[in-house]
Amino acid sequence: MSLLQVDGISRHFGGVTALRNVDVRMREGETLGMIGPNGSGKTTFVNIVTGHLVPDGGRLLFKGTSIAGAAPHHLAALGLTRTYQAVRVFGGLSVRKNIEAALLLGLSGAPAAAEQDELVHWLRLDHRLSSPAGSLTLFEQRRLELLMRLLQRPSLIMLDEPVGGLAVTEVREMIALLQELKARCSIFVIEHTMRVIRELADRVVVLMAGEKIADGPPADILRDKRVVEQYLGTAHA
Ligand SMILES: Nc1ncnc2c1ncn2[C@@H]1O[C@H](COP(=O)(O)OP(=O)(O)OP(=O)(O)O)[C@@H](O)[C@H]1O
Ligand SMILES: [Mg+2]
Repeated sequence: MSLLQVDGISRHFGGVTALRNVDVRMREGETLGMIGPNGSGKTTFVNIVTGHLVPDGGRLLFKGTSIAGAAPHHLAALGLTRTYQAVRVFGGLSVRKNIEAALLLGLSGAPAAAEQDELVHWLRLDHRLSSPAGSLTLFEQRRLELLMRLLQRPSLIMLDEPVGGLAVTEVREMIALLQELKARCSIFVIEHTMRVIRELADRVVVLMAGEKIADGPPADILRDKRVVEQYLGTAHA
């Protein structure tokens, strides 16, 4: 049984086709990358799978159960969560209050205090607990957002450009964290930084103008003629 099974998902916005008949499957424990040019439908895909948007058609199964029409908080309780391309934390609240908010919003059982502390320490946020989240660096905010989702103990986390806006050294550190995250849950990751895909993904799906045009191991996909010519050959080589 697939952890995630997406069959024939489509979505239009007025005259724009954001996704057309897209199929994606993920196995338990797998790290799946998704790449594609700006506007190719990657975020729309995550928005649909995580219940933020309703598809025009298609089938969505998580752990073998239909999740069509389920709200994001319901999906989080089932173990499916996501982070955002533009990081989302409560900027006016301290890191500690953000953590408390995440625990309150989590419908499934909160991790024990020791496990919470271990996550805070792992994400190197211990020294920032009293700081307003809005005063953190972008890298710290991305780690806080990750922490808030991990407190909900997901079995699948969908990351929308987790290294977006980060400096090169921070990208390296985030890749190391995500490498360790693989032991905790399955990961779906959208990225324009190919280093992330090369180093983390077991398999990569490529979207082009809303359609899936390739699906396979990173080594093959990143050499694929069409992917190189229409995407990597331009801005992201
Ligand atoms: N809520 C919306 N209303 C109208 N159009 C939308 C909406 N969300 C996405 N779109 C359109 O759907 C298409 C796909 O957008 P999407 O954000 O999924 O792309 P993306 O692959 O995530 O791009 P990027 O790499 O720039 O983040 C684009 O043409 C976009 O303008
Ligand atoms: Mg996007």
